[in-house]
Amino acid sequence: MKKFFKIMVAVLLLATLVGACFAFTACNNNGDDNTLIVATNCEFEPFEYLNDDGKPTGIDMDIAAAIANELGMKLEIKDMAFDSVVGSVAAGTCDIAMAGLTVTEERKQSVNFTQTYFSSSQVVIAKTGDSILDIVVEDPENKEELSAAIAQVEAMLNGKRVGVQNGTTGYSYVSGDSDDYAGVAGATAVGFTSGALAVQAMLAGNVDYVIIDKVPAEKLIAANQGTSVSNVVLTGEDYAFGIAKNNTELLNKVNAALEKLIENGTIEEIFQKYGYTSGLGD
Ligand code: ARG
Repeated sequence: MKKFFKIMVAVLLLATLVGACFAFTACNNNGDDNTLIVATNCEFEPFEYLNDDGKPTGIDMDIAAAIANELGMKLEIKDMAFDSVVGSVAAGTCDIAMAGLTVTEERKQSVNFTQTYFSSSQVVIAKTGDSILDIVVEDPENKEELSAAIAQVEAMLNGKRVGVQNGTTGYSYVSGDSDDYAGVAGATAVGFTSGALAVQAMLAGNVDYVIIDKVPAEKLIAANQGTSVSNVVLTGEDYAFGIAKNNTELLNKVNAALEKLIENGTIEEIFQKYGYTSGLGD
């Protein structure tokens, strides 16, 4: 009996030890300080999209891996609805937003931005042959020509339904917001979970146009016959990564890593791998 008791104690002790061990590893793999948790939305080729194996791929995803490597951290990508990306970082569920994210005054109220790494603009996608595509800017450096063209495009959007991705600057450009965009008079923003679904809706006749960032727009028209992209750049935007306001330590580390990766050409290499240029070299 005494022996049986001893064995029971030993078994219990072992079970507790094993349990504690599991709990410890679980803690270490989840939300530990050594994993960089990235919030993104993989509906934005070439910045982030799912490859044929369903794996997050793209310019931002490669930059994420390069930054994690610089910081000696593991990487975890969380693919979510775009309109949850900034909030999840502000709330601390994720460490950093890497999502072709435009720096805006509105977003600055909830997150800090790293230095910028790409310049972008909203553009219109229309059905090929639509007269909005006849408005063409010859010299985008010519401010007067550009603003006249923007005014013409906006006049044509009046009374129209415009498909946009929920939570994006494209949405704000059409509907207006508190800090950054006045909105397009008479245009109605119709929100979708992705630009691809907005283009499908346009082809099905449920919206008249789609407004989205220029480089993803080019990918979308290449994938959807019968669509074309306007050459009028409607906005001037810069992409950066968003980090929680109280996490200035990570902000400083990521900025330092980014600076190094820009200087040693890694960022430009990543852009070129996808057929683009960061514009950071000049
Ligand atoms: N640049 C736009 C914005 O910041 C669109 C970004 C969409 N990104 C994405 N991963 N779906 O609102």
